[in-house]
Formats: sequence, C-alpha cells, structure tokens
Amino acid sequence: MTQARQKQGKSVFIRTYGCQMNVYDSERMAGLLKPLGYGVVDAPDAADLVILNTCHIREKAAEKVYSELGRLKKIKAARARDGEEMVIAVAGCVAQAEGPEIIARAPMVDLVVGPQAYHQLPELLARAARERGDILATDFAVEEKFDRLAEREVDGPAAYLTIQEGCDKFCTFCVVPYTRGAEVSRSVDAVTVEARSLASQGVKEITLLGQNVNAWRGGAPAGDVGATGSWGLGELCRHLAKIDGLERIRFMTSHPRDMDDGLIAALGEEEKLMPYLHLPVQAGSDKILKAMNRGHSAKTYIDQIAKIRAARPDIALSGDFIVGFPGETNADFEATLALVEEVQYASAYSFKYSRRPGTPGAAMPGQVAEGEKNQRLARLQTLLEAQRADFNRAQIGKILPVLFEKPGRHPGQLIGRSPYLQSVHVDAPQSMLGSIAPVRIEDVTPNALAGVLVRKAEAAA
Ligand code: SAH
Ligand code: SF4
Ligand code: F3S
Repeated sequence: MTQARQKQGKSVFIRTYGCQMNVYDSERMAGLLKPLGYGVVDAPDAADLVILNTCHIREKAAEKVYSELGRLKKIKAARARDGEEMVIAVAGCVAQAEGPEIIARAPMVDLVVGPQAYHQLPELLARAARERGDILATDFAVEEKFDRLAEREVDGPAAYLTIQEGCDKFCTFCVVPYTRGAEVSRSVDAVTVEARSLASQGVKEITLLGQNVNAWRGGAPAGDVGATGSWGLGELCRHLAKIDGLERIRFMTSHPRDMDDGLIAALGEEEKLMPYLHLPVQAGSDKILKAMNRGHSAKTYIDQIAKIRAARPDIALSGDFIVGFPGETNADFEATLALVEEVQYASAYSFKYSRRPGTPGAAMPGQVAEGEKNQRLARLQTLLEAQRADFNRAQIGKILPVLFEKPGRHPGQLIGRSPYLQSVHVDAPQSMLGSIAPVRIEDVTPNALAGVLVRKAEAAA
C-alpha cells in the first residue's frame, strides 16, 4: 500500500546555487527521487518537496539560502492551512558547513543533507515522514554515493559528469575542502560506464567535473590492451574519446599544481578535447599566492600557459581571480593586472575576497576595506572584459563547428556552443538540435556570437 501511495505523482522543486558540481548533484537527486514517484516542477508553490542545493563559497551565496527559506516558510504555512504538506530539504555546501545552525535558525527545514550524503535521500525522506524531527545527514560517503546513484537519464546533447570530488589543497580563502571533503577520484570503469550511457542517449559533449578535476588519478582498466599503470586526466580523456558518438570532451576546474605534461600533451593531440581551459590563478603577486597557499608562483603559472599554448596554439584560457585578499597592497594588485595583460584571457570570473568562517584567511591581519576591494574589482573586470571582447571579435569571419543545444529566443533560431565555449546564435531548423555543424561567425554581441550555417552562406554566395 505504501508503494501504491508513493507512486501517485508527487512533485519536487530543486533550486541550485553554486558551481557545476551542484548542477550535477541536483540532476542526480532528481534521478534518485524519480523511482519514488517524484516529478520535477519549476516552482516551489505546489511542490511536495523543495530542495535547496546550496553554495557556501562566498558570504552572499550562503545568505541567499536564509532569505529563500524565509519565503518558503510562508508557502509552507499557507499549504499547511490547506491541509497539505511540504517537506523542505537543504542540501549542498551550506548544509555541510552550517547544518546544525540551519536546524536551529530555520525550524521549517525538515532535512539537512550534505553533498557527500544525498544518495540517502530516499531513506531520509521516509524518516522525515515518520519522525517529524530535524534530520541531519552530513557524512562523507563519496564512494557509497556513486555506487548508489542509479542509471542517468538526460535531455540534450551536452552533459556534466563528475569524476572527482573534494579538495586537499586548502587554499586559505576557501571552504571547499571542508564542505566537500578529501580528494576522491571515481574509477575509470565507473566514469566510462556513465559516459557510454550518456553517449547512447545522444549526448555529444561531456564536461568532466571535479573541484580539482586534473588531480584525478585512476588505475588503467583491467583487460584494456596496452593500458597500464596509473592514469592521469590526460589518459582518461583519451580513453573516453574512443566512445562512439561522443564528439567533445571538456573538463573543469583545473588547478595549476596538477596540470601535468600528460594532460598538456592530450590537449595538443586529442581532437575531441576542446580548446578551452579554465585554469584559475587567483592573483598575480607571489606574496599573495603564498599567503593563499596556492603552491605555485606567477612565473610557474605563466610558464605553464606558454607550454599549453605551444601544445594547443588556439586554446582559449579562462581563470578565476580574487581581489582584496588579506595583505593585498596596491602593488600586489598591480601584479594581478600585469599577469592578466601577459596571459590574455578569453573569459574569466573575478570576485571580491569574502571572509569565510573557519578558513585561515578569515583570521589573517590586513583585511582590505570594502571600498578598496570594489575599486580593484572594477579595474580588473574592465581589463578582463576588454580581453573577452577582443577574443570574441577575433572569431568574426572564422568558420567554427557549433553544437546546437537549445532553441533561441526568436523562432527559427538555435543557440549552440563554439569549441571555445562561446554561445553562438544561428538561424537553423529545429531538426539540427543536438548536431554539430560549421557556422560562419559574422557578429558579436556582449554575451554571444552570431553566425550563419555555412551551407546557407554558400548557397547565398
Ligand atoms: N577548485 C577550483 C575553484 C573552486 S571555487 C579551483 O581551485 O580553482 C571557485 C572560485 O571561487 C575560486 O577559484 C575562487 O576564485 C573563488 N573563491 C573561493 N573562495 C572565495 C572567497 N573566500 N572569496 C572570494 N572568492 C572565492
Ligand atoms: Fe578551494 Fe583551492 Fe581547493 Fe580550489 S584548490 S577548491 S580554491 S581549496
Ligand atoms: Fe559552492 Fe560547494 Fe561548489 S561551496 S562552488 S557549491 S563546491
């Protein structure tokens, strides 16, 4: 009887904050709930279950959760007056970092579940229904998690695939080692099975994910002729590139310390590896890099970029930057600008340092004033934005293969991705969704490229 009741369509609303790994986790949570009869809905108002998959990386990201919980509290109360129940779960990195605090501050939350424990959702929901108490599940059970996640069903031609979790680097500004736990790599076999399943569902592009994706290590698969020893990400990418139907492979986020020669060689040689690399440097001053515990200098980073460009000359580089880390002087900040000038980025993310409780940076002397951080961020973003615009404009006149991912805003338009991860708007028939076709780039807008299908351009000529 319980079975029959569970099968009656229930609904779940999942809001995702934070990085791509949270996007992946949200999709897997939806997959876990599907056999229990939950369909995904796109608003919380009538949902039986609401999951906030949260991010703790900066103070603002974490604060959003509490304001969202405030709104949900009202919806939940209104539903209760109508005799309906709404279960509220907080997942993700805020759940991990502030679980007990959430339970104390937000009594409408029924369940708190960390990023390495969400595979237990089915049992936890059953417990929540039985006990009506506050349930906290924040154990680090990464391997058990991946063993438990069922076969994936996906929509669309591009998908994320988490291959590595956690971080052992302990940059002094960052919460991730505390919220995601130690570095763990999934096995070659597990990753291959998931990638094959995605390809069989029409996925053309996979993005391999990890907080330190290039720290991935695995044993060569048993029985694979010629494959021996311990593999790094380069070998894994070459192995996945053999899967029929898979046309494009990307990976993020990489750490400069783990950018080994095997991966650089693969970037140069494996055509399915896309020419785009997100390699955060954070700052350009060696003093600040040291205080951040990054384990590399500005020079080693720049030398590495030169090596990568020698292997793959057309590579588009992307990075993350933090301004206003404790002790950052004007001269230190100028060194960041100089590094950016030297590297020339195709895209980048930049942030004001946010003091995170429990991290070494939070207690460091020389915290930088907010106004100063604002000014530095504005200067850095102006420079990065100019570089991005230059990179985009340099594509005009080129023919790029575009993977069409979704319909555009106008009828008859599709939106796709270039190899360099730029959005490309093209007039093309719906039947081309999910396929890759050559596009002549004709224009740039602030956030995208615009082009025409090459066959159309040729027909018109
Ligand atoms: N694992 C990745 C990044 C994880 S977090 C890496 O090592 O590069 C994504 C980005 O958020 C970081 O690269 C950093 O630029 C930024 N970030 C992390 N902690 C921050 C903090 N306390 N304040 C501001 N930005 C932060
Ligand atoms: Fe955070 Fe540094 Fe680990 Fe990246 S490498 S997740 S920035 S601690
Ligand atoms: Fe945020 Fe956690 Fe990702 S803190 S950036 S959701 S790893």
